[in-house]
Amino acid sequence: MLPAFVFQTPDGTERGKYLALDLGGTNFRVLVVKIRSGIRKSVRMYNKIYAIPHEIMQGTGEELFDHIVHCISDFLDYMGMKNTRLPLGFTFSFPCRQTGIDKGSLVSWTKGFKATDCEDHDVVDMLRDAIKRRNEFDLDIVAVVNDTVGTMMTCAYEDSKCEIGLIAGTGSNVCYMEDMRNIETVEGDEGQMCVNTEWGGFGENGCIEDIRTKFDREVDEGSLNSGKQRFEKMTSGMYLGEIVRQILIDLTKRGLLFRGRITEPLKTRGIFETKFLSQIERFISTYTLIIALMHLQSLGSTCDDSIIVKEVCGAVSHRAAQLCGAGMAAIVEKIRENRGLEHLEITVGVDGTLYKLHPHFSRVLKDTVRDLAPKCTVSFVLSEDGSGKGAALITAVARRYCGGIDKYLYSMRFSDETLLEIMSRFRRELEKGLSQDTNPTATVKMLPTFVRSIPDGTEKGDFIALDLGGSNFRILRVKVSHEKKQTVQMETEIYDTPEDIIHGSGTRLFDHVAECLGDFMEKHKIKDKKLPVGFTFSFPCAQTKLDEGILLTWTKRFKASGVEGMDVVKLLNKAIKKRGDYEADIMAVVNDTVGTMMTCGFDDHRCEVGIIIGTGTNACYMEEMRHIELVEGDEGRMCINTEWGAFGDDGMLEDIRTDFDRDIDRGSLNPGKQLFEKMVSGMYMGELVRLILVKMAREGLLFEGRITPELLTKGKFETKHISAIEKSKEGLSKAKEILARLGVEPSADDCIAVQHVCAIVSFRSASLVAATLAAILTRLKDNKHVPRLKTTVGIDGSLYKMHPQYARRLHKTVRRLVPECDVRFLLSESGSGKGAAMVTAWAYRTLACLWDSPSPSPASKLVWML
Ligand code: BG6
Ligand code: BG6
Ligand code: GLC
Ligand code: GLC
Repeated sequence: MLPAFVFQTPDGTERGKYLALDLGGTNFRVLVVKIRSGIRKSVRMYNKIYAIPHEIMQGTGEELFDHIVHCISDFLDYMGMKNTRLPLGFTFSFPCRQTGIDKGSLVSWTKGFKATDCEDHDVVDMLRDAIKRRNEFDLDIVAVVNDTVGTMMTCAYEDSKCEIGLIAGTGSNVCYMEDMRNIETVEGDEGQMCVNTEWGGFGENGCIEDIRTKFDREVDEGSLNSGKQRFEKMTSGMYLGEIVRQILIDLTKRGLLFRGRITEPLKTRGIFETKFLSQIERFISTYTLIIALMHLQSLGSTCDDSIIVKEVCGAVSHRAAQLCGAGMAAIVEKIRENRGLEHLEITVGVDGTLYKLHPHFSRVLKDTVRDLAPKCTVSFVLSEDGSGKGAALITAVARRYCGGIDKYLYSMRFSDETLLEIMSRFRRELEKGLSQDTNPTATVKMLPTFVRSIPDGTEKGDFIALDLGGSNFRILRVKVSHEKKQTVQMETEIYDTPEDIIHGSGTRLFDHVAECLGDFMEKHKIKDKKLPVGFTFSFPCAQTKLDEGILLTWTKRFKASGVEGMDVVKLLNKAIKKRGDYEADIMAVVNDTVGTMMTCGFDDHRCEVGIIIGTGTNACYMEEMRHIELVEGDEGRMCINTEWGAFGDDGMLEDIRTDFDRDIDRGSLNPGKQLFEKMVSGMYMGELVRLILVKMAREGLLFEGRITPELLTKGKFETKHISAIEKSKEGLSKAKEILARLGVEPSADDCIAVQHVCAIVSFRSASLVAATLAAILTRLKDNKHVPRLKTTVGIDGSLYKMHPQYARRLHKTVRRLVPECDVRFLLSESGSGKGAAMVTAWAYRTLACLWDSPSPSPASKLVWML
């Protein structure tokens, strides 16, 4: 199941002139392929076949690649093209572990090749080195492609339903288009990618021993790669003749054939070629068959012998076709299930001498697929042009991307290695923020929240929650009752927070909040009640107790003057008092991450992390008190608001920030601050895409170089547009619609490119959050001294909720980065208000218990004071 880094089959827009190599089948070919797009869509090819002598196939790697380059040189001379540096697609029909379309290291040789020093080496590098050694011409090696993939692409150019490639030739193999979300070994979840199954290796773990015969074992033992490619050795052209020869020897030894005489030719390995099978099975009359046998094998056959030999050939080829049919049925069924279809119609592109020349192979194969996969209608299309054409088509697409978009966005893609490095940097930040000595200079502030446990199911009461700082300002009434089962009822109103208010004076802002609260109480007829209030305030606050929060600095869209350094609970109380028309008891101020963790903790007691991926981004988690040096006491746990948005404010992320990130920061309300948040969260992502599009258009890579005033306007491209464009079905038409609103008339290629940009930007965001979250998870695991951590992460925020791929990408990356953690991601359905009410309930109960009891215990007093 080797990822092939081919994301789509051809769409007819491919064009250009390419060189292709086709190595690994019966023939080695060098080709030039000219592709035209549009209405005159066509492909013209010129090729020459070269021999690869046996001693070169099994000599040194250097000799093999020098020979290949020698053949290319001859071909370029022949075509008069030595001085044109053409892009090259390399069909290399062996298993390669690819990390990109132009990178592939040979896993192991198969079939008749065994050149030394090639396994585990990058074949593209080896070819480049050989070209350098020859020093006669230069080529731009753009893609390395398996023959199955080349064949699928060749056929898909004519038939868009072709999403499978099959080779039944010297070797046997299949590739098909798999959903990215199922390919765990490659980052990314959107769309599809071709997977080279290398099904020839099926059975290497012993799982088909029950159907292997002693003849198969003998063939295997005499092969170049004993123990390997067991399925291939039962199904492909290189081995079928040899199986027949082994059976004939056995029958002869038993005296059932050739009068019991084993002749020299019969003893010779490889003498019975698969093409003889095809010929023998094609002969109808016994007479012609005897002649053929005598001619081919000098076996001195009789009439009976010939019939037996034909029977043997028939059994061996029939079994091969049935086995390939069974494999194919499994693949089409998998594709049908992937797509949730009752019925699948699909085309398989096929190549290979066995399929093409054998008189019955293709029929038996098709019959078997039809019997085993009745819910699929599978058509088989023969590749007339070999896989070189497909390799050229892949090269055309790859060059379009590599040369254009990826040049810009290369630095936005992170390998797992980089993510693990970011993860360990963030781990160090967590420790720095927790320690008393280093906290003052730490960027990640690790703010104690005075919330000591998640809801335990005993909370009850009638509360008001304010929820300020996300994309909506909400006020809620939360009633938690406790008859038999704990139930929660919520009523919500959303209020405006106009720009002039959030950027005006602090007094005005809190007057506005108090006014909205008054309106809410009026509407809900509770103005005469003094309900306890929980205040979700989604900004970094220093707390010394639950009902005090000193704003350290504004983040996101807010910038009201005179609030930083002040206690927001006091400011709100003052504003309420000033009005005098109602009373409120603000019992707790909580960050939205904490509210989210508590909301999710209500449903899942394992929840001990809360994260927000919305306008801003942040996380909180339950830390051991003994590690929180800023708060006295060593017992139990306390929730820490990490304020991870500030990660990188000390230059720690400079190596991964791009010029686009720097532009975003410069144009923001808080330059130099919240640098991680600015790479990740919804408030900035749309703008990031806009800046990239402008730059690409300026360089002529998009919109034919046209830039409109709308495209130049800050904020015109929003994060919600990214979510729309990345939708798998209607994404491209959405891109067209959104770009049209920005005044550009995008081509089909422009839309694909913009979708690609969006995917890279949103993917980077999910990868970064995965790295920091993974750091928190490993910290929790270490705190608990357990070999595996089982935990739940509560999540909220519009980016996570609305983007079609974000959640899956995040989950997948986290699981890859910390395989030792079993994480449940729980979406907070009801916002952080419910969680804020839970915190308030706890505070209220503690207070009530103090007041009610005739002599409150010193311990309970202390709890409340803290
Ligand atoms: C050719 C393709 O047509 O078929 C090759 O161009 C492929 O890429 C080959 O390897 C497979 O068939 P065989 O029988 O030559 O191994
Ligand atoms: C809401 C929570 O659901 O999500 C808020 O109730 C939180 O407290 C918000 O701030 C975060 O998402 P966004 O996208 O609105 O910033
Ligand atoms: C062998 C190779 C595989 C190739 C097949 C058909 O199985 O390992 O890569 O596709 O032969 O040529
Ligand atoms: C910003 C705030 C943080 C909040 C986050 C998500 O990063 O500083 O307190 O949790 O946005 O809303």
